[in-house]
This record gives sequence, structure tokens and C-alpha cells, in this order.
Amino acid sequence: MEKYIIKGGLELHGEISVSGAKNEALKVIAAAVLSEDVCTIKNVPDIEDINRLIEILEDLGATVERSDHRLVINPAKINKTEPTPELIRKLRASVMFAGPLLARVGEVTMAHPGGCVIGQRPIDMFLAGFRALGAEVIENEHQYTLRAKKLKGAKIVMPWIAVTATESLMMTACLAEGTTTIINAAMEPEIPALADYLNSCGAKISGAGTPIITIAGVEKISGGTCALIPDRIEAGSFVIMGLATGSEIKVTNLNPNHLETVITNLQKTGANLEIGSDYIITRPSKLKGIELRTHEYPGFPTDLQAPFTVLMTQAKGISLIHETIYEGRLFYTDKLNQMGAHIIMCDPHRVIVNGPAELSGKTLESPDLRAGMALVIAGLVASGKTAVENIYQIERGYENIISRLKGLGANIEKIDDCLVK
Ligand code: EPU
Repeated sequence: MEKYIIKGGLELHGEISVSGAKNEALKVIAAAVLSEDVCTIKNVPDIEDINRLIEILEDLGATVERSDHRLVINPAKINKTEPTPELIRKLRASVMFAGPLLARVGEVTMAHPGGCVIGQRPIDMFLAGFRALGAEVIENEHQYTLRAKKLKGAKIVMPWIAVTATESLMMTACLAEGTTTIINAAMEPEIPALADYLNSCGAKISGAGTPIITIAGVEKISGGTCALIPDRIEAGSFVIMGLATGSEIKVTNLNPNHLETVITNLQKTGANLEIGSDYIITRPSKLKGIELRTHEYPGFPTDLQAPFTVLMTQAKGISLIHETIYEGRLFYTDKLNQMGAHIIMCDPHRVIVNGPAELSGKTLESPDLRAGMALVIAGLVASGKTAVENIYQIERGYENIISRLKGLGANIEKIDDCLVK
């Protein structure tokens, strides 16, 4: 079993560059199915989630060439209506293929996407949206089938804000007849980025990045080239890592406009940050506890809640962390307590952190991608040796993290238990 071994307590220094956005890449890859022409995606991170989507694309009949953070997808031969269930179940983002396949082939049978430790994450809003667009939806506990000769534009009111459901319906509606309006749409920066790419391929989407998106259906989506925006969650994770370890590091190739609430909340804790046009420098700071609430964009992202909570273990006083999006995304705090943190869980959505605490190294299992990164940060802060297991979860979303962190002077290694005597 592979794991990371971290010897913490070191100050970091130097620069770390942010990769292309995972959560844009996954959607642009699925959107390639809308077209019969070649789609080129640049700045693609080399991470496990992308590997899984490429496997699904190839299963569907597309060809994919990959070199130097660039994907060239040729979807011309896609005509499969039942992607292999084992591939679909491997990650939740596989659900993104359902709408484009329906729009392109007229029918699709998909396994329900994989379970997830951060919360229940049903797909009811996707299915309600496809129904509104005129699809027949037949569902059982293992799979769902969607059928529609031609999708029809509709008014879709989302009962609450959901990122991938917004993106899925936005891309599917591109090939519907007539106009679709999505009301109460999510506004994450990856959504206007996806819309810009689709518009460059002939789609007619307006309002992406606001709560009301309008899509005028078109006959055809052509091929195109998409350069992914920087990953704001990776950027935020690195900035928090710099602060938590009391280090001066420069996080480059980011867009600070996508991190405004993150920056404001960090500054509220007393974080000393230099914000440039495409970088943030962290400096050693006297931190104090604050109250934080996660919120849909432009609020503080749920994906940075775990790294932020680690930071608050190093801040003086009480912090209240309120995770408003997911009901299962605070259980990793138990692991921080094993390391010496003082965190009390009030209910599944709220914890109180009493800091500062001296963390010491432990063996910990990474529960999910973002909490996994938080444990790596905790390991870098802690004295002694931390072992982080189940690192597939981390490598789902962070490219080549070992050598990038070593570049900052971190003492971190990846070892394979089977090879260690
Ligand atoms: N929800 C439903 N029904 C649906 C869809 C969503 O009830 O049909 C619920 C979910 O259960 C959740 C809430 O709505 O309680 C929000 O879900 P949302 O759809 O916004 O989440 P998501 O689209 O599944 C994306 C990101 C997540 C990120 C969230 C919130 C991707 C591939 N995933 O998930 O990213 O946490 O938005 O910003 O874009 C990650 O990168 O580690 C990650 C989990």
C-alpha cells in the first residue's frame, strides 16, 4: 500500500505553480461528446480523476491523445449508449457524460455514479432537468436510462444551487430545440469558463456566472480548443499550507479574483498575504480564530474548509467552522484531534476549534481528496513523522504533489509498504 511519509515542522520556501482546474477539466472532457469534431484541452492536470474520464471516453469509442498537459479528443466514433458500469461507478463526475450522450445519441443507460464519503450526493436534479428537457427517464437502484429523439428547451428551476447539475444541464441544453433557462444556477468560475469554451464551438449560452443562464439551442457543436483556468482550490490549499507552516512561499499562476472570499477570510484571521495579479505570497503571521461558513461561489468554498480548519488549529482562540454544503465533510477533524488538535464536533455541520495546538505526527487515512490534502498540511505542521494512507484520494486531484512540495523544501516521500522490509 502506497503512503506519504512526512517529517513535519519545517519552514517552507520558494515558489509553487498552480495547475489547470480539475473541476473545469472534467466538464470540458464530458462536453467533448456533444461534438463530432476534435476537441483540444490545454493545461490539463495529470491526476487520477482525469485518467478515469479518459477511460470512459475510450470506452465510449473516442480516441484520446495525451501529451504535456494537453488532451486531444476525437469523439467522431462515439455511438455507445451503455458505458461500462464499473468505469462509471469509479467517480461521481462520470454523471457528466449522461446529458451529452443523450443529446448526441438519443439514448443512454448509465450506472449510478460511485458513492462518496462527503455526503449523499444524489443525482435527482440532473434527472429532473433531463425530464424538463423532454427526456424519458427510467430509474432503478442500479442505473438510469434516458431517452429523447430531440430535446426541447425548457425553463428549469433548480431547487437549490448545485454545480455539476448546473453544468450538465447547461451543456445538454446546447443541442435542444429552442431556448432553455436555468434559474438558481451555480456561479462557480468553472461554469462561465465552460460556457466560454462551448460558445467558441458554436453554442449560444449567456448569463453563465450569474444565477440565470440562458441557452439558445443550436444544431451542431463544433470542435475547439480550451485552455483551462487555474485551479482555485489547489491555489487556496497552497496558500493555506504556507500560512499553516509559518512560511514565506509564492503561489503562482493563480487568479486572485477567483479567491476573493478565501483571501478576505484569511485576512480576517490576521494572515499576512501579498496579492499580485497572478500570485499570492504568504508570510509568517499571528493568526486568530474566526467564524467561517462555507457557501456556494462566491462564498468560501467547501473544498477549502478542511485545509482552513487545519490552519485554525494554529490560530489563537476559538474558531467556529460551519460546513453548510455537505453533511459528511467534517469527520476528518477526529484525525486532527489524534494529532493533538482541540476540536469539538457540535453536529455534522459544525465544529469548534480551540487553538493554537501543537500537532504531532500520526498514521492517518485520507478520507477524501480535500481532507486528504488537509492531512498533508497537518503533517507538514506537526512535529515528528506523519504517515498519510489512502493517497489515491489525494492523487485524484493534486498532480505530482510529492515533487512539488519537495520543491518548497518539504520533507515528504511516497513509499510503498510492500517494498519496505
Ligand atoms: N445535490 C442533490 N441532487 C443533485 C445534485 C446535487 O441533492 O442532483 C446536492 C448534493 O448532495 C450536495 C449539494 O447538492 O449536497 C451540492 O452539490 P453540487 O452538485 O454543488 O456538488 P457537485 O456538483 O457534486 C462540485 C464539485 C465538488 C465541490 C462541489 C461544491 C465537481 C466535479 N465537483 O460537486 O468538488 O465540492 O461542487 O462546490 O465539480 C472536489 O473537487 O473535491 C469536490 C468534491
